[in-house]
Amino acid sequence: MKNLTTLLLCCAVATLSAQQMPIYLDASQPIEKRIEDALSQMTLEEKVAMCHAQSKFSSPGVPRLGIPENWMTDGPHGIRPEVLWDEWIQAGWTNDKCTAFPALTCLAATWNPALSKEYGKAIGEEARYRNKNVLLGPGVNIYRTPLNGRNFEYMGEDPYLASKMVVPYVQGVQSNGVAACVKHYALNNQEINRHTVNVVIDDRALYEIYLPAFKAAVQEGKAWSIMGAYNKYKDQWACQNQYLLQDILRKEWNFDGAVISDWGGVNNTDGAALNGLDMEFGTWTDGMTQNRADAYDHYFLAKPFLNKLKSGEIKEEILNQKVRNILRLIFRTNMAANRPYGSFASPQHFAIARKIGQEGIVLLKNDKNLLPIDTQKMKTIAVIGENAIKMMTVGGGSSSLKAIHEILPLDGLKNRIGNTAKVIYARGYASNDYKDQDGLSANDITDKRSPQELLDEALSVAKQADIVIFIGGLNKHDGQDCEGNDRKEYNLPYGQDAVIEALAKANKNLAVVLISGNAMAMPWVHKVPAIVQDWYLGSEAGNSLADVLLGDVNPSGKLPFTFPVRLEDNAAAALGEYPGDKDVAYNEGILVGYRYADTKGVKPLFPFGHGLSYTTFKYGKLTADKKTTNGNITFSITIQNTGKRDGAEVVQLYLHDEEASVLRPYKELKGFEKVFLKAGETKTVTFHITKQDLSFFDADQHDWVAEKGTFKALVGTSSGDIKSTVDFILKLKLLL
Ligand code: BGC
Repeated sequence: MKNLTTLLLCCAVATLSAQQMPIYLDASQPIEKRIEDALSQMTLEEKVAMCHAQSKFSSPGVPRLGIPENWMTDGPHGIRPEVLWDEWIQAGWTNDKCTAFPALTCLAATWNPALSKEYGKAIGEEARYRNKNVLLGPGVNIYRTPLNGRNFEYMGEDPYLASKMVVPYVQGVQSNGVAACVKHYALNNQEINRHTVNVVIDDRALYEIYLPAFKAAVQEGKAWSIMGAYNKYKDQWACQNQYLLQDILRKEWNFDGAVISDWGGVNNTDGAALNGLDMEFGTWTDGMTQNRADAYDHYFLAKPFLNKLKSGEIKEEILNQKVRNILRLIFRTNMAANRPYGSFASPQHFAIARKIGQEGIVLLKNDKNLLPIDTQKMKTIAVIGENAIKMMTVGGGSSSLKAIHEILPLDGLKNRIGNTAKVIYARGYASNDYKDQDGLSANDITDKRSPQELLDEALSVAKQADIVIFIGGLNKHDGQDCEGNDRKEYNLPYGQDAVIEALAKANKNLAVVLISGNAMAMPWVHKVPAIVQDWYLGSEAGNSLADVLLGDVNPSGKLPFTFPVRLEDNAAAALGEYPGDKDVAYNEGILVGYRYADTKGVKPLFPFGHGLSYTTFKYGKLTADKKTTNGNITFSITIQNTGKRDGAEVVQLYLHDEEASVLRPYKELKGFEKVFLKAGETKTVTFHITKQDLSFFDADQHDWVAEKGTFKALVGTSSGDIKSTVDFILKLKLLL
């Protein structure tokens, strides 16, 4: 009897608490129901508070209702270390040393969407463990000029490649109950004048080149948030831009996530309130840069917004829309059911970082198979160059990290080579530009010797060696690959060109390794037998590089952007405006990167999609399943590994329109597959093409249009090396 009473009592309590639990707290309820329930219980002040920051990286929840705060973190290559509440400088925590993943340029260079998913999942786990619910990344601004200081944070020049790579990254991050915040929407393609410049662009280039990766992230990746850019478009700031945020993002793409401003990207209350922004961060009103305690109240979406709501000048429904989006973000992340717990700086994450580095490194040139280094024959290995010993995880702006470790290239090589050969090092040149960022220091490798002394030492070391590995390129300092500014020159900095020329004379076995997130001139290209494009590879940088240089891993990276011979061979420099002043006109339109080089017959230094292997591949003949189609068509081609090593090749499909009524790029990437082949193995690769893949954006109709006529499919190992082609006809009527 007693047991029955206890049971009944328990049931009663359970029913009561189920009844009493507010809908918004019940994660089993549909999100939209939870949103309306929470909204109905909030005061005007509580709602306004959610629309703006309360510290550098957080915004308030609703303490009274138990709705948690939002905590953001950069992004996109690792979890940013904690900064002080109101300041950018380090908080000095000891539990925030993260895994530094390779920069997104490297990820794009893997051409491996499955690896992008692993990247997203791993970095999302790190964010989750650090209790962040929004990761400020990935970045998908298109590579327009090699001078853009932030290209290293993005995924290259091609909208198709960037789209295919961004979707799994977003999905991977969000599988942790952490929102990806895709940035910087849109047209933030340079750092110079980024806060003031107004981009002038035609609709066709906007829709064909600059928007697709954002659209894919939103529609296929289902990104839960997006970050507005600093620049203007149609004379409105991107963070408060009715065309980008309302017309395109919300109406055309049906985005239901939160629009977050870039830090300091909001410029007035009306624009921020009325044009589709949800959350304001980093605003520089009333001394925020000087750290004023109550400055957040002065944000455009704080008191000034509240006042306009109270006076009726702005309707409460405008506010409610924002709060719905913010609540949706919270219910999808911090208040989601069964949210994983994440993990941080784990061996698995370092392994993923190393693998991405291995697969992203691009072998640009390898005459006489100088690489991989054969330590049976090469008994003395000279390593020369500052970037062999320079930390690259610190610096670069907001993507700067406090990595738990960073294996430097020289250390990676020494560890791998061990006693099998002798490694000797010389500096060769010195940038001597060692600043810390936000109180976090890189290793101090200041060298006060004169350029001549450094060169003399390097030449004497080079002459003693069987092979010379020069490791140089750019770095993460202001004016190099760094946020807030652009590069000043297309050539290598710090006199490296002269050092490379001299080394090439001193030792014919010279391999040049360039660490950068950007293309650069190589006036010495014909004098150097081997060239490797390395990227900012994060914690495992030295290991990934050693894996490739020593041949433990066969390189399979492909360039995600074109390397022009000269800056003038870049489309923005040749046809467009850069950096502009008040306006910057993208007169080159759709002819970005290889689209320009191909169409105008400008031979690049290294073409988009280029990358060699230590093995060789043989392509078969490209076939189409039908030569006449209404749109859908399947292409097949065989690929064989004809060398002695296992390896991977990225088979690339481009489409060419023979008879268009408008200017079209000579060809455009519309399919790719990274194929892993054992030595001697053959596989068949198939590509499925739809009418959309044959279309261009018709600005007058504001729609995608495919015109009937002859097309050509081209399959190659890069945009500059096509192996097989096949013609087909698009008919737009019933096929007989
Ligand atoms: C950058 C963003 C970054 C934000 C927060 C801004 O300066 O443009 O990409 O997420 O700062 O650090």
